Amino acid sequence: MRNAIISLYQPSHLASLIPTMQSYAESLSLNVSNAQEEEDIDFSELTLRMAIDVIGKTAFGVEFDLSKHTTSQKSHQNHYGDRDEVSGFLNQHMYSIETLKMDLSSSFSTSLGLIAPVLQKPCREVLKRIPGTGDYKIYQNNRKLCKRIDAIIAKRSNERTHDPKDFLAAVLNARERGAGEKLFSHNYIRALTYEQLLAGTKTTAFTVASTVYLVSKHPEVEKKLLQEIDSFGPRQVIPTAEELQNKFPYLDQVVKEAMRFYTASPLVARETSRQVEIGGYVLPKGSWVWLALGVLAKDPKQFPEPDVFRPERFDPTCDEEKRRHPYAHIPFGIGPRACIGQRFAMQEMKLALIHVYRHYIFRHSPKMEFPLELEYGLVLGFKRGVKLRAIKRVLNRCSMRI
Ligand code: HEM
Repeated sequence: MRNAIISLYQPSHLASLIPTMQSYAESLSLNVSNAQEEEDIDFSELTLRMAIDVIGKTAFGVEFDLSKHTTSQKSHQNHYGDRDEVSGFLNQHMYSIETLKMDLSSSFSTSLGLIAPVLQKPCREVLKRIPGTGDYKIYQNNRKLCKRIDAIIAKRSNERTHDPKDFLAAVLNARERGAGEKLFSHNYIRALTYEQLLAGTKTTAFTVASTVYLVSKHPEVEKKLLQEIDSFGPRQVIPTAEELQNKFPYLDQVVKEAMRFYTASPLVARETSRQVEIGGYVLPKGSWVWLALGVLAKDPKQFPEPDVFRPERFDPTCDEEKRRHPYAHIPFGIGPRACIGQRFAMQEMKLALIHVYRHYIFRHSPKMEFPLELEYGLVLGFKRGVKLRAIKRVLNRCSMRI
């Protein structure tokens, strides 16, 4: 299956996505500029809108139009449907992400599964039919979400293309070419499609928002970052994919350090396909193994003073970086099932950060809690958003907008 879509993540295809990604980065910046004086911006909501739009367009071939028109323009119509339709979709998607928790605040069946895994499935089967329960709400929400995704798939199935530019078209083409109904059953395509939305939106949005949150608390980092971005060239010059990779070494360090500080996907799981020995423990076939990327990222042996935000620790010339174990920092996972969207995400995040920092710097709103409160799940979230105030950059000086 990975083979059917892998070409969409190759450098040549990613380079062709720059104009699309840039247009949503510009919408993000426009939404920042729309804020009134002394108005707090929920930056994490804006980055989520951007990330959903980017995946909508590049993976589904659909314009969700969430970032181009924020909540103040409710009457706007878009290509996907009307505004209520889109906000319904967004709400269902958000609810679905939020309920992907693995703690006692999740549904009863999930909590029960933590103590007695064998009871989880039968318990869920019963509770999902009882209105008022968490399991019922999740089930109903997922049903509605599936219906919306099915509608997108049905629409795209009728559009034939020989040169698929998005994920869904590539999957539908592979089915047409004879990969067969068996492999690409309807449910499987739906699950894969939703996986893209799930895996590629909150992770990217969270990382962009947490990077800006951290940079705005560290003026020395901000100064260095702005110098790098400004010295690249005039604001209107959009970096190419190659320039994004080679001309922004400090931005790379800042994003890596932000991902270490707040690891968007703190846990990844594997099931052993045979008996293995790990660290002296023998695990029988079929055991679940959880790798805690977020814990690795705070290991003081690999990252001295792990609670200090210091992008320079990722400078390739510094001793700390040279000494570090090659697998100490793996926010995109590792091995054959590692994140397929890593390059995609880096390209999108760097374009967005370059664009917003060309026009703004940010300070925490007085309402921003400290320390930052996080919501733990398969993907990390912000409990109360990232509330910032923007300062418009004018040529070489900064003029306060707040
Ligand atoms: C900052 C952004 C992102 C982070 C931190 C992230 C992180 C991860 C991690 C940790 C995994 C699990 C890897 C493992 O099990 O070893 C994963 C899997 C995956 N990611 Fe990402 N991801 C990001 C963005 C994206 C984007 C933008 C896309 C799609 C465009 C994407 C698509 C996927 C898919 C499809 C998988 C499952 C791969 C498989 O099972 O073969 N991710 N990601």
